[in-house]
Amino acid sequence: MKHLLSAADLSRDEAQLILDTAEEMRSLADRPIKKLPALRGRTVVNLFFEDSTRTRISFEAAAKRLSADVINFSAKGSSLSKGESLKDTALTLQAMGADGVVCRHGSSGAPHLLAKSGWMTGSVVNAGDGTHEHPTQALLDAFTMRRHLGSLEGRRITIVGDVLHSRVARSNVLLLSTLGAEVTVVAPPTLVPVDMSRWPCATSYDFDAVLPKSDAVMMLRVQRERMNDAFFPSAREYTRRYGLDKNRMAQLPDEAIVLHPGPMNRGMEISAEVADSTRSVIVEQVTNGVAIRMAVLYLLLSGSNETEEQTA
Ligand code: CP
Repeated sequence: MKHLLSAADLSRDEAQLILDTAEEMRSLADRPIKKLPALRGRTVVNLFFEDSTRTRISFEAAAKRLSADVINFSAKGSSLSKGESLKDTALTLQAMGADGVVCRHGSSGAPHLLAKSGWMTGSVVNAGDGTHEHPTQALLDAFTMRRHLGSLEGRRITIVGDVLHSRVARSNVLLLSTLGAEVTVVAPPTLVPVDMSRWPCATSYDFDAVLPKSDAVMMLRVQRERMNDAFFPSAREYTRRYGLDKNRMAQLPDEAIVLHPGPMNRGMEISAEVADSTRSVIVEQVTNGVAIRMAVLYLLLSGSNETEEQTA
């Protein structure tokens, strides 16, 4: 595998390999020295055209823990404001040397364009493209679920909320179904994608009916910045029907966990009490995100390292 662009590109064996490798990387977090020399001499470029806290920082931490050099590019403060194109930005960063490129972009398909255009020769990792995909988020979510639930085969995972605008939902449905989970998506009718019938999951509009049968519930952020009022007439009505509060959480089976990819709208899709409860694994998801991104960078970039060392 040269790039990681979509959760759909991962076979079950490839996904398991990433999760197993992340388990090894996760164990480093408990050691006094958290660094490995695996990517020494390699350069990872974080190419972020859209805002991010968790993904950008965890990719940077992951690359540094593997001893790679890191170049951070943010659209804000760059020459994009002077009209520079994606192509010229990519060529400029490639000229500085990039073995791996982590790309977040507001347009669906931008990382695919980078991977296929030849503007950059390194491996490309999709760190979230428009409303399309966010494969490393899905991997860290599956990793977190696996640590709590064991094998995901036959596990009932419920994903709730603004599915229409969610790259996290699409990547999770694809990856979790590959791993054998039974996924149900719950959303208001106005926030269901038109191609939903082709997704490998069930669809429901009744959150309360699905909750008691869920091993894990993933709440999605309501992406008000991507929608108009026709999609979202009332925050209070949304929270009443699709929000997770303490009373709803009580319907979950005893061992069920609650996830959210962040950033959260506390009080809208998830109450503060639920977000901070013992069932919530939201902070743990962030920790696991570093391990997953270490595993992805290691698996994509360390092979070419070996080849180079062998031929040197
Ligand atoms: N979950 C996620 O992608 O968060 P950020 O936007 O903060 O990276």
